Amino acid sequence: MTQDQLKQAVAQAAVDLIVPQLNDRSIVGVGTGSTANFFIDLLAKHKGFFDGAVASSDSTAERLKQHGIPVYDLNNVHDLEFYVDGADEANGHLELIKGGGAALTREKIVAAVARTFICIADASKLVERLGTFPLPVEVIPMARSHVARELVKLGGDPVYREGVVTDNGNVILDVHNLMIGFAPDVEAQINNIVGVVSNGLFAARPADVLLLGTKDGVQTLKR
Ligand code: 5RP
Repeated sequence: MTQDQLKQAVAQAAVDLIVPQLNDRSIVGVGTGSTANFFIDLLAKHKGFFDGAVASSDSTAERLKQHGIPVYDLNNVHDLEFYVDGADEANGHLELIKGGGAALTREKIVAAVARTFICIADASKLVERLGTFPLPVEVIPMARSHVARELVKLGGDPVYREGVVTDNGNVILDVHNLMIGFAPDVEAQINNIVGVVSNGLFAARPADVLLLGTKDGVQTLKR
């Protein structure tokens, strides 16, 4: 199976998991990236069975609207049962690195609100230890050099993602070679650097369910 077929299989598994639990008042939190896009396209087949969605990026909002799925402002949503999104890396504790698509901050906000965070990923994303994938950090533009120096003090090698501006008008530093021991501590430490908006470690709020696409089928990992 190709990586895209594995992504499609986990997207379908997420649809199969949540759709029976939705009703005409349900709003679904939707992530960003190629796996999330498969999810959107498959979820759209059931659009009569739920009210709408909250999007974690402008591109996701656009794709949802193209399918005729209403997109709500998170501030007007009082109950979000499910958030479904991909990841760049996941470990056995369902802690994640996200932000390869630069949408980490909005993804983290929607994940924080949702009662159940379902991560969908192909098997290549499962790792023993987080950090081979460079950790994305969203930074206020004027703080870029300051934050980069602080990240070097933490042992990382930050690289400015040239030409990328986030939906929030900020920039991304991708931190290579960072030793991620206890992920919640590293997440908090980076968030404490002045000028950091958020970082791509999802450890304080990990996924609740990881649907992993393998050549032998979709595996379900739970916390
Ligand atoms: C975007 C993300 C994505 O979930 C992550 O990059 C995985 O993307 P893909 O599903 O395309 O492999 O965090 O900011």
